[in-house]
Amino acid sequence: MPLAFLKGETAVGQYLIEGGHKLEGRVRIQGSKNAVLPMMAAALLQRGTVILRHCPRIDDVRCMEEILRYTGARTWWQEENLFLDCSKIVTGEIPGAYADKMRSSVFLLGSLLPRLGSAAVSYPGGCTIGLRPVDLHVKLLRNLGAELTEHSGGISARAETLRGCRHRFPRVSVGATENGILAAVLARGETVLENCAREPEIFHLCRFLRKMGASIRGEGSSVICIQGQRELQPAQTEVPPDRIVAGTYLLAGAAVRGEVELCGAPVEEMGALLSVYRKMGGQYEVKSGTLFTDSRRVGKIPVQIATGCYPGFPTDLQSPLAAVCATIRGRSRIRETIFEDRYQAALEMRKMGAKVEISRGNLLIQGGRLYGAEVLAGDLRGGAALILAGLAAEGRTKIRPSRYVERGYEHIEEDLTALGGKIRKAVQE
Ligand code: EPZ
Repeated sequence: MPLAFLKGETAVGQYLIEGGHKLEGRVRIQGSKNAVLPMMAAALLQRGTVILRHCPRIDDVRCMEEILRYTGARTWWQEENLFLDCSKIVTGEIPGAYADKMRSSVFLLGSLLPRLGSAAVSYPGGCTIGLRPVDLHVKLLRNLGAELTEHSGGISARAETLRGCRHRFPRVSVGATENGILAAVLARGETVLENCAREPEIFHLCRFLRKMGASIRGEGSSVICIQGQRELQPAQTEVPPDRIVAGTYLLAGAAVRGEVELCGAPVEEMGALLSVYRKMGGQYEVKSGTLFTDSRRVGKIPVQIATGCYPGFPTDLQSPLAAVCATIRGRSRIRETIFEDRYQAALEMRKMGAKVEISRGNLLIQGGRLYGAEVLAGDLRGGAALILAGLAAEGRTKIRPSRYVERGYEHIEEDLTALGGKIRKAVQE
């Protein structure tokens, strides 16, 4: 199977932005990256074809598609619907190059083990936001009866049968909770998972698995009970809108004091952001499925927040929020509590004149004017944050490489251009 997707990066994509333009108008929110990736892994648990409607065409989905094809699945698109035919899965040995490209390959263990009885993935590459260990996944799968051997390159797992168990996660982990659910739905007997993550993506995964015939209770709370089934059936589902993309675009409007309408935004999943937005002077209302935001009064009230597990302020919007704080007079303070190294983008904004420092684990930002500069993106949400800073800055900003942002934002430059932003993507040979 050609690893077409993983061809070397020869041309470096970059975003070119001319700042200082207001954002106004309407944008439709894409399907959720962090909801669809575990759903794609879940497809391996059944022997027919599943359909994921309103699926975002982003690089992480393309990478997961390549991985599924590598295992023997057939995948194809009809408009924005992704079809996954998992009738013939022949291997669970995932090449290392994929894990380096995308961390989410680790929760393929949870779906390949019940399907094939064996699987192997490399250690997902750490990234600039932290080490990203997988010990919580390993402990859980062993508790379900899998034999896992860890070696320098990664993890090999075997399990004739997985047996239900009671498992308490030592710390809250979205991916480990998802892996646990995927591994337990076909395990023998009942599994009770305690101290689970409560993110909406877990709720969406469970709803999809229930359509496939799984027996799951408690998603959205910290205790999830699963009755193992003999087999699951094909199903189809709508990929929910991406709460982090919606939050990014709301914050883009805030960065330039614009008025942005987010069509299809999952408002019920955005409570923590909306309360911070209101505190900083933002105004919003929801009418027939659209979130209308008005940021004309943003700019005078600095922000004090800490990120947290859902329903707390999402770590994935921490860097985009930092970009808005860099434009708000006064001193804002942001505390990242989920990842150990997620201030890189804010520090990079110093090149744009942002007054940013880290003191006792807090990000302190003295807001003021930003100026266009050449900056480097080191992760997905950090790259998005730099785009927001570029929109607010005076002059031109160049952000390289574009590949991180392309992992999770389906058409950010088109969306922001449609709202009046001056941004385009170019390729630097
Ligand atoms: C998911 O990552 C998301 N990714 C992340 O979004 C998100 O930031 C994160 O959850 C937290 O909400 C996807 O859903 C694909 P965790 P995940 O396991 O599952 C530590 C984005 O930008 N940990 O909840 O990897 C870990 O290092 C991405 O879309 C262990 O120590 O996050 C982190 O400090 C970035 N051992 C904390 O737990 C483990 O075995 C939370 O991580 C696993 C995690």
